[in-house]
This record gives sequence, structure tokens and C-alpha cells, in this order.
Amino acid sequence: MTTHYYTASSLDGFIATTDHSLDWLLKQDIDQEGPMSYGGFEAGIGALAMGASTFEWVLRNEAGSAWPYSQPIWVFTHRELPIPEGADVRFVQGDVASAHREMTTAAGAKDIWIVGGGDLVGQFADADLLDEVWVQYAPVTLGTGQPLLPRVLDLELLDVARNRNFLCGRYRLQKD
Ligand SMILES: NC(=O)c1ccc[n+]([C@@H]2O[C@H](COP(=O)([O-])OP(=O)(O)OC[C@H]3O[C@@H](n4cnc5c(N)ncnc54)[C@H](OP(=O)(O)O)[C@@H]3O)[C@@H](O)[C@H]2O)c1
Repeated sequence: MTTHYYTASSLDGFIATTDHSLDWLLKQDIDQEGPMSYGGFEAGIGALAMGASTFEWVLRNEAGSAWPYSQPIWVFTHRELPIPEGADVRFVQGDVASAHREMTTAAGAKDIWIVGGGDLVGQFADADLLDEVWVQYAPVTLGTGQPLLPRVLDLELLDVARNRNFLCGRYRLQKD
């Protein structure tokens, strides 16, 4: 079982603008069946975790549409947030290790995806619970925004690919 961070980023290392817009990303061309694309990755995922801002972005973006995830999702928040129809959501807070244990059980033979944001992924790395980082770099700089992964980490480059507008990299965390 592998715990992944799979995300898109600006070239200068931001996953959203300061006001949580992804317009810079959604206008980019990508082949959803192409190298390191979402479809193939998501098929191997049995449980997801995300922070409150990411969950709120999904709620806004998917309003009026069917809930996009079939897997159970652990949402880290200190607040009461709505649960959309058809979503399997568990609200948690604090230490990521206990949530990771629950996710491991729920995922069965499949992997875990930490969706973001960057600091939440960092909390999993701090607890030595992050294995791989997959980044699709869009040909955009934002100058400022929500950080990709605000930690000091050493990673090994496992694979690279081009998918239309995106430079895709897959990395493994170097562990002591
Ligand atoms: N480019 C991409 O592919 C991509 C991927 C993922 C996300 N995103 C975007 O990136 C942005 C990320 O936002 P963000 O940096 O604010 O990160 P976030 O992790 O989505 O949200 C941060 C919030 O999560 C809650 N939280 C985090 N850790 C917690 C813990 N241990 N216990 C309890 N609550 C915890 C806190 O919310 P409260 O205390 O307020 O409840 C915190 O303010 C979003 O706009 C998202 O849509 C982009």
C-alpha cells in the first residue's frame, strides 16, 4: 500500500492562487488517458484525504453535479461543513496518523491519495506516512498562492512524462 500526493502545480510551486482559484489550471490542455493522467491513477485509490479548503473547492466546483469520488474521504477541518449527497465523508482533526490507520483499513488492497493542500501533505510527511509525490506542472507562474509542499524533503525522481501542456514527474520520498 502506497500513500501518494498527486496534484497539479504552477511552475513556481503553487497549487492554487491565494484566493483558491484553479482557473489557471482548468484552462490547460491535458489528455485524461495520457501519461500519468488522473484516470489511471484514481483507479488504484481506495481512500482519500483532503484539507478543508480543498474540500470547499470541490463543493463549489461540483455544485449541481454528481459527487465525483466513489471512495471514502477523510476531511481535515475544525469546522462543520456540509456533506453532499452520495459522498462518503469523515471529518477529522489533529494527528494525521490515526486517520491514516483508518484509511489503510478502508483502502484494502488499494492505495491512499492525499489530495492536498500542501501543508496537510506535509503533516503526513512529518509523520513518515507519505511515500510518493506526483506533480503535473502547468506552464504558468503565479508568483504567490497556496504552496505545493512547504517542507524540506529529499525525493528520488522515479519517472517523467509530457502530457500535452504538462510536465509530469513522479517522485519517491527518501526515508532515513
Ligand atoms: N492544483 C491542484 O491540483 C490542487 C490539488 C489540491 C488542492 N488544490 C487547491 O489548493 C488549495 C489548498 O488550500 P490550503 O492550502 O488552504 O489547504 P487545505 O489543506 O485544503 O486546507 C487547509 C485547512 O484544512 C484544515 N486542516 C489542515 N490540517 C488540519 C488538521 N491536522 N486538523 C484539522 N484541520 C486541518 C484547516 O481548516 P479549518 O481549521 O479552517 O477547518 C486548514 O485551514 C485549495 O484551493 C484547493 O482547491 C489544488
